[in-house]
Amino acid sequence: MLYIGIDLGTSATKFLLVDDTGKILNSISKEYPVIYPNSGWSEQNPEEWWNAVKTGIPELLKGFNGQEVKGIGVAGQMHGLVVLDDNDNIIRNVILWNDGRTWKETEYLNTSIGKDKLSLNTANIAFAGFTAPKILWMKENEPDNFKRISKIMLPKDYINYKLTGVHACDYSDASGMLLLDVENKCWSQEMLDICSITKNQMPMLFESYDVIGDVKSDTANELGICTAKVVAGAGDNAAAAIGTGAIGNGKCNISLGTSGTVFISSDKFGVDKNNALHSFCHADGGYHLMGCILSAASCHKWICDKIFTETDYNKLEQEIDTSLLGKNELFFLPYLMGERSPINDTDATGMFIGLRPDTTRSQMLLAVLEGVSFAIRDNIEVAKSIGIDIKTSYICGGGAKSKLWRKLISNILNIELEIPHAEEGPGYGSAMLSMVGAGEYKTVTECDSQLLSVKDKIIPEKELVNLYEERYNKFKQIYPAVKNLYKTIKE
Ligand code: XUL
Repeated sequence: MLYIGIDLGTSATKFLLVDDTGKILNSISKEYPVIYPNSGWSEQNPEEWWNAVKTGIPELLKGFNGQEVKGIGVAGQMHGLVVLDDNDNIIRNVILWNDGRTWKETEYLNTSIGKDKLSLNTANIAFAGFTAPKILWMKENEPDNFKRISKIMLPKDYINYKLTGVHACDYSDASGMLLLDVENKCWSQEMLDICSITKNQMPMLFESYDVIGDVKSDTANELGICTAKVVAGAGDNAAAAIGTGAIGNGKCNISLGTSGTVFISSDKFGVDKNNALHSFCHADGGYHLMGCILSAASCHKWICDKIFTETDYNKLEQEIDTSLLGKNELFFLPYLMGERSPINDTDATGMFIGLRPDTTRSQMLLAVLEGVSFAIRDNIEVAKSIGIDIKTSYICGGGAKSKLWRKLISNILNIELEIPHAEEGPGYGSAMLSMVGAGEYKTVTECDSQLLSVKDKIIPEKELVNLYEERYNKFKQIYPAVKNLYKTIKE
């Protein structure tokens, strides 16, 4: 039997074909652009995603028997607001998870409604990327579009809807809307009222491994598959945690994708008292805490593609003199799209500090990789402050393919990193969810213990850890020193 895991990412959709023993038989990727209509805004056209799926699945299955596909799982970029009208037409482009236009609505939610009330109803406070502030933004700025909304969904749910015709969402992804009562796993009527929307507009809720329906027969024909079972799937970070092994209690996964996340699994519901870390449902049926930086591998891509105009990333990385590790005088703040966790600042921008006439491009590249790692460390520090001391973590995502970056993360965070055999976090995790849904495995835990293993470990080195401790202490001082400037220069 065959299973398809789909990871609907920000730069591309990645497809994995997996057999019933968990072996990856094929993988392909379909890229599409992000639209930046204004400074700090980001959008995508969901038709591009569906086109990626329509062309991607047949390509993935070339040389295989599509009639053997038993299950499909989709993981997706979180928080994006997909809105459809009565005729299932897309009303407007999707406002993405890293879009900062909703700063006013975010402030309104956090101050006028109040963080305490938000946290009581949803276990979270408002961040600009979350879905509820986007709904309020649409209501205020596009009232005609707002009135036409018949269905609200998240990115991966649009794909599931196109596949099955079922308007569904799973708890892990729904958690990031700021509309879900995370502890009790149901829509918060109070939050729906605050956003002037109704339960009828919202999708039905499922666990990630629950089957929401079968692929519609005409769609199945078009894709060259049978009417396979589709599970509810998960937000990309929860799916990545399933795919790396961060399930149950107290496990950690770090993802270095377009965003960078620190994901801490928990079998019990819990809230970070400062709400700096998100408190969300997990795709294994439990919960998790998560910190998310908005620009991780995207900073790497930005400096290589846009600034150095060099597509050979390996070549650029090899130029880095490794004796510079821990001693680079250049610092980089990775806030290209503002920042979410922990500083929650839509005005923050990227910045280098420490440039000299002899600064080389490899020092700049190293500073970028280090700056992202320091920003991830900021989230590890928040976890520490609430009593969670992470000693070891899985790591996945495009950035984790770089040996140098893994070494930096391990030493800057002072934690041991485990590299899972299947490095395709969200895609593999969503394929695993589809296996559970289709009955191949009884539970996510069983699937996990049968399929996952670690192929490599990165151990922090004492000398580098000490050097980076000093560098981090300096990095920490930069943002507070420029924080107020960001607002001034924006005006
Ligand atoms: C998580 C988040 C990002 C996106 C990226 O809260 O916003 O990790 O899910 O795809």
